[in-house]
Amino acid sequence: MIGVESLSVAYGAVQALREVTFEAPPGRITAVLGANGAGKTTLLRTISGLVAPREGRVHLGGETLTGRAPEEIVRLGVAHVPEGRGVIGEFTVEENLRLGAMIRREPAGPLLEEQYALFPVLGERRRQGAVTLSGGERQMLAMARALIARPRVLLLDEPSLGLAPMVTAQLMHSIRDLCASRELTVILVEQNAKSALRIADTAVVLYLGRVVANAPAEEVARDERLRQYYLGMVES
Ligand SMILES: Nc1ncnc2c1ncn2[C@@H]1O[C@H](COP(=O)(O)OP(=O)(O)OP(=O)(O)O)[C@@H](O)[C@H]1O
Ligand SMILES: [Mg+2]
Repeated sequence: MIGVESLSVAYGAVQALREVTFEAPPGRITAVLGANGAGKTTLLRTISGLVAPREGRVHLGGETLTGRAPEEIVRLGVAHVPEGRGVIGEFTVEENLRLGAMIRREPAGPLLEEQYALFPVLGERRRQGAVTLSGGERQMLAMARALIARPRVLLLDEPSLGLAPMVTAQLMHSIRDLCASRELTVILVEQNAKSALRIADTAVVLYLGRVVANAPAEEVARDERLRQYYLGMVES
């Protein structure tokens, strides 16, 4: 179980997170939703040790992650797929995956094959530069690069950004399957509340750095007030 406890983060005078508390259980998808500037990216960056909180802590299976170096947090099993995807364009698909596999001290071959089985298109494109991939393929590569290290926790920052609705639906489907089949803990940050709520178990809604809701995804999806004021889901 990974969780954050009373987490507050500030960038100078800008308070990005205010006493944020929630837990994300294994084998479940916890969606973190909210408008631009709500603090979603800051939350993931704090969990993975890239930003130091002013107060509060992050814990994983009884251990405190706060104060540890980002590399150590990766080694403890937390993989972060950042906003903008974090793949190296000049490297081929396979080189990007090999980088992801480096923290596992075992031959990369079987690990690569496992990812190619999961995302067949990456196998077909293995010698191609990552820069030549489509947006959806690049998102798959970013996820495969995180997964190849066999993390316990997967932090995804807006994986659907810039993808067509159909590609987003496929991607959400793969996230759902992965989470269930590997007992992976997924924290899914999305502005696209609708597609995230379809696959998430629980949703945490942030507004100006505060948690305004933490409830089963179906409940959040039905809540008119949350939908209108905090999630910008205006539809007939
Ligand atoms: N490095 C930084 N320095 C100063 N302020 C920052 C920094 N990063 C983020 N902020 C501010 O902190 C707040 C939260 O930003 P954050 O990126 O976490 O929001 P977000 O919910 O991910 O938004 P988006 O949906 O647009 O990605 C915003 O007001 C933002 O301007
Ligand atoms: Mg963000």
